[in-house]
Amino acid sequence: MIEKIILGTVQLGLNYGVNNTSGLPSKTDVHNILAIAQEHGITQLDTAAAYGEAENRIGEFHSQASIKFDINTKFEKENNFDWNISLKQSITRTEVSRLHTIMFHSFESYLNKKNEIPDFWDRGRNILFDKIGVSAYTNEELEKLLDDDFISVVQFPFNLLDNNYQRGAILNRLKDNGKEVHTRSCFLQGLFFVEENSIPVKLRPLAPYIKEISSIASSNNLEIGHLALQYCLQNKLIDGVLIGLEKPEQLIQNINWSLSRLDESILNQIDALVVPNIELLNPSKW
Ligand SMILES: NC(=O)c1ccc[n+]([C@@H]2O[C@H](COP(=O)([O-])OP(=O)(O)OC[C@H]3O[C@@H](n4cnc5c(N)ncnc54)[C@H](OP(=O)(O)O)[C@@H]3O)[C@@H](O)[C@H]2O)c1
Repeated sequence: MIEKIILGTVQLGLNYGVNNTSGLPSKTDVHNILAIAQEHGITQLDTAAAYGEAENRIGEFHSQASIKFDINTKFEKENNFDWNISLKQSITRTEVSRLHTIMFHSFESYLNKKNEIPDFWDRGRNILFDKIGVSAYTNEELEKLLDDDFISVVQFPFNLLDNNYQRGAILNRLKDNGKEVHTRSCFLQGLFFVEENSIPVKLRPLAPYIKEISSIASSNNLEIGHLALQYCLQNKLIDGVLIGLEKPEQLIQNINWSLSRLDESILNQIDALVVPNIELLNPSKW
């Protein structure tokens, strides 16, 4: 299952996360995290021009490493970016010869640039990048990407609460249309690890659902992180599962969880959890 893990790097370049008390990791920790990932067979990194120091830190690691990661990065967030400049800057910063996947950072950004994609495909594919993707949030956005053959990779949130009940139908349609599916928010930005009385006020309505997850985990003698990770990894429709972290020990823990599959009957209990207000599951609205 480890081959499905894509290491997210926003946490390596910015002070980020709903439960992050340790801040931006040191250069040494970033180096150790990337080295551990490589040693254990993680081959892809998810990054972005907008993730602070992340691309530079990947580049620093690559300058000393014998093997380089496959880099999935995102164009700048500004609406009027120049694709050629943005892409070449990411290549330079990450110290690779070409990108594995270049993604639009949002559906809105994709729409703004949609008419430039054929030109960008003709001039850049197999030279500057291998694939084009879009990072999306909603099922409505994903639906609008189904028929765009230039877009082969889609990334969106999927986890114990933003689960098969919310995403199952669109996941099937994406796979029927040949898309490579990457999911993020596996740990809901770390919220699954927060003690009940420390959940931020605006996210309190999620507390009963997190309690329900805790009870499914504890009645099966599992840690919640193990359940969260395997819920994503064991989904056959998902090709890549992004995970974020700030500490080498978290990566080691996650690698250990990835090695131990769970009984499908446990995962099926999660599909019955239904959060009616889906806005609460979208970290960009927090
Ligand atoms: N629009 C976009 O394209 C977009 C948006 C957001 C993120 N991303 C990508 O997705 C990646 C993942 O970010 P995410 O928001 O989806 O995060 P996530 O994977 O849902 O959660 C990451 C957080 O979970 C906690 N965690 C991880 N492993 C742990 C462990 N073993 N024990 C305890 N806590 C643990 C850490 O929080 P603590 O701070 O509590 O340690 C970590 O920062 C990012 O790095 C980025 O590459 C993309």
